[in-house]
Amino acid sequence: MRFFPRLLLSNLLVILLAVGGMFAAAELLAPSFYREHVDRMAVTMTGMVGSTHRELRSDLEAGLRTTLNRALLASLPLAGGVALLTAWWMSRGLGRSVQRLDEGSRALAQGRYALRLPETGKDELADLAHNLNVLAGALSRVEQGRVELIGNVAHELRAPLAALRGYADAMEDGLITPDRAAHAIAREVGAMDRLVRDLSLVSRVEAGRVDLHLETLNPSDLIRALQERFRTSFEEKGVALHVTASQLPAIHADEERVMQVLTNLLANALRHTPAGGQVRVRAEAHERVLNVAVQDTGTGIAPEHLTRIFERFYRADPARSRIEGGSGVGLTIARGLVEAMGGQMAATSDLDRGSTFSFTLPLYTLAPHSVTPAPAPPQSA
Ligand SMILES: Nc1ncnc2c1ncn2[C@@H]1O[C@H](COP(=O)(O)OP(=O)(O)O)[C@@H](O)[C@H]1O
Ligand SMILES: [Mg+2]
Repeated sequence: MRFFPRLLLSNLLVILLAVGGMFAAAELLAPSFYREHVDRMAVTMTGMVGSTHRELRSDLEAGLRTTLNRALLASLPLAGGVALLTAWWMSRGLGRSVQRLDEGSRALAQGRYALRLPETGKDELADLAHNLNVLAGALSRVEQGRVELIGNVAHELRAPLAALRGYADAMEDGLITPDRAAHAIAREVGAMDRLVRDLSLVSRVEAGRVDLHLETLNPSDLIRALQERFRTSFEEKGVALHVTASQLPAIHADEERVMQVLTNLLANALRHTPAGGQVRVRAEAHERVLNVAVQDTGTGIAPEHLTRIFERFYRADPARSRIEGGSGVGLTIARGLVEAMGGQMAATSDLDRGSTFSFTLPLYTLAPHSVTPAPAPPQSA
């Protein structure tokens, strides 16, 4: 049975039971209220008119009972009518709310995420409508992300594929030597390979399924290794690299992943800093976390881009970044890895002055066996 008729019927049943109960109670309880008065009246009146005491008493009792029942019966249509109307009105209101929720959840189930339910009132049904709306919003964002992701992947693959076709055609027409073509093809295949590996890592990071090998690490060693790795690239571009990272307490993290994060930040800083600029890597222990900041004196990021650079495939300057080799998911991966290790990442930037990317990692003493979220770094986006 539908919700509305069931609710109405149950309300009617309650009304019927209440009326029955009222008559039964009047029948059972009322005599005990008036019996004493009837007795006293009968005593007084028997003296006056001379009829027998018992007869008058039962006569009076019967009269009172009939009067009471008549009064109850007379009030029944009005009281019953009001009760019926109220029951119908309330059942209809509740029935309508439930029907709206039913339609809303059905729309969600069918993938229509744009529908929003009215959130009138302050009861549990309004809470439920609100929660359904929140759910619809979340699902619609997920759906939008899915569509964007497919579009982005197709877009990212198009460029290397077009290049490969170009080289194949050029070789066929004898415009480039097989040697040069092989070299160029290997480069494009390398870019595609990187993209596919990045994508696979992004999906694992976003699903929270990265395999971490957490161990006790000396951050100074990691940063020194990083400095070695980047020395020639910085020298070739003419950008100075300064590192401040000595006497640091041990951290609890995955060495390869920390290096991946640092490599990403440093590669970005180098890419966006012109010759003559500086990049500074600073690591300090703050209470229970290590805070690492990579600061550059490069192009900086405009505020409207800064809020979005951690999104996958987002590039502040698409044409330039693509040519110079980034797939636009580096920061998404970096932040995901840092969060998986129990830290947080943030960015600040001044357009034309430079940017600072900072992240935290838990110190060894904090979590030798478990990963817990650490406080945010001092700068935040
Ligand atoms: N240090 C930086 N200075 C200026 N812009 C940056 C810096 N780091 C990142 N960005 C911007 O953020 C975007 C996203 O970075 P990232 O996710 O690493 O992707 P990619 O490096 O592949 O372009 C970059 O395309 C760039 O526009
Ligand atoms: Mg990058």
